[in-house]
Amino acid sequence: MKNLFDINGKVVVLTGGCGILGKNIAHYLVEQGAKVVVLDRIEDQGKELEAELNKKGEALFLVTDVLKKEVLEQNRDDIVARFGTIDVLLNAAGGNMAGATIAPDKTFLDLDLDAFKKVVELNLFGTVIPTQVFVPVMAKNEKGAIVNFCSESALRPLTRVVGYGAAKAAIGNYTKYMATELASKFSPSLRVNAIVPGFLLTNQNRALLTNEDGSLTDRAKTIIAHTPAGRFAEPEELFGTIHYLISDASSFVTGVLSVVDGGFDAFSI
Ligand SMILES: NC(=O)c1ccc[n+]([C@@H]2O[C@H](COP(=O)([O-])OP(=O)(O)OC[C@H]3O[C@@H](n4cnc5c(N)ncnc54)[C@H](O)[C@@H]3O)[C@@H](O)[C@H]2O)c1
Repeated sequence: MKNLFDINGKVVVLTGGCGILGKNIAHYLVEQGAKVVVLDRIEDQGKELEAELNKKGEALFLVTDVLKKEVLEQNRDDIVARFGTIDVLLNAAGGNMAGATIAPDKTFLDLDLDAFKKVVELNLFGTVIPTQVFVPVMAKNEKGAIVNFCSESALRPLTRVVGYGAAKAAIGNYTKYMATELASKFSPSLRVNAIVPGFLLTNQNRALLTNEDGSLTDRAKTIIAHTPAGRFAEPEELFGTIHYLISDASSFVTGVLSVVDGGFDAFSI
């Protein structure tokens, strides 16, 4: 039988590819033989990453803004001109913003609504708009895989993280909605799923999880106490789920939120 996990030669578009998770994922996918297109707004880091990836395989970096449809349309045309098609879209651009998080001495009444809107815009519309732009290419192939980036905060609201949690919860619902939309109106083999990473210690949350001396905050200790695996995740621990979701091994899997959290969501007492 063929290797169900073979992704050699697949053209994978990765938004937010210069981020902590994005960079790691890009390296992994190139090592597996995929042609990886990194889309991000940071040009110098993107060019550097492109050069590193091209030492291992085939990659392209393009500047984008996931909130600007016309920029993404130009990206799409450039990708198709270079690689002929697009097989996979990984919607990794996203993240939290300080204003959308409620400080310990503040309440919901102090919430910065502009910051809240920006977080929803980036995480939700920054996934919806690239999907609108790249789906027509996959629809032409009658096949494709999309992976959205959700979060533990979508499943279990986390204290303080009001804006990001709401935005990622919307991603969960939207992912399920899109599974039917894509299969019924475009192709039964056009799939969309979400990865739900648990807690990683990255720049996104370093200030919440570590003190200035590097020791864990009380919040971080609580997270670990609620994680059966007893630790934070490493970025590499997301690779297997992403690989599975974009390969033929998951050909009958769509509309699923795939949780990678060391058991956090399953833990009660
Ligand atoms: N790191 C974590 O602990 C964690 C946990 C759960 C989910 N996630 C999600 O995984 C995804 C990746 O996380 P990360 O830690 O790599 O984040 P990151 O902040 O390190 O990277 C995000 C990337 O997105 C890019 N970006 C932001 N706005 C953009 C825009 N308008 N257009 C194009 N690019 C834009 C940034 O330049 C950055 O390179 C995000 O959606 C995040 O919410 C992360």
